[in-house]
Amino acid sequence: MATNRTFTMIKPDAFGAGNTGAILEMIESAGFRIIALKATRLSPELAGQFYQVHKERPFYADLCQYMSSGPIVAAILEKSNAVADFRSLIGATNPENAAEGTIRKRFATSLEANAIHGSDSDENALIESNFFFSAFDQIG
Ligand code: PPS
Repeated sequence: MATNRTFTMIKPDAFGAGNTGAILEMIESAGFRIIALKATRLSPELAGQFYQVHKERPFYADLCQYMSSGPIVAAILEKSNAVADFRSLIGATNPENAAEGTIRKRFATSLEANAIHGSDSDENALIESNFFFSAFDQIG
């Protein structure tokens, strides 16, 4: 059964370019409610743990290095059909393929520096949310 929460990270490129506020505005304007939010920075080890599902893929080392290269913003978001609707809002992984009006179309600069992460399933949304946030960090 689909849950109503997803997890996101604003990636180092978007955070570093000062686009956090504009991205959060797009997220809220699309009807998502912020349940938890923090600015933080991943170590290479923590990035490796977060992305361990991709550890056999050729870009794994680059992705972990990139995601630990600067501050990020992590958040839990709530909306009906959250995972699928948020993936639509952020757009295709490669910004060259991202539709007009999506966050990646507006802010991503390359396949690696693609501005934002969105969970790909309800199961992973919960795992990823628990990676960053305790129950105490989340509003009801
Ligand atoms: S997706 O969105 O999960 O379906 O995309 P996928 O192709 O499986 O990619 C998984 C994550 O790896 C990132 N990625 C890359 N990073 C660096 N270099 C290359 N070539 C590359 N290809 C994919 C992609 O942005 C996904 O990161 P997240 O944080 O999940 O968006």
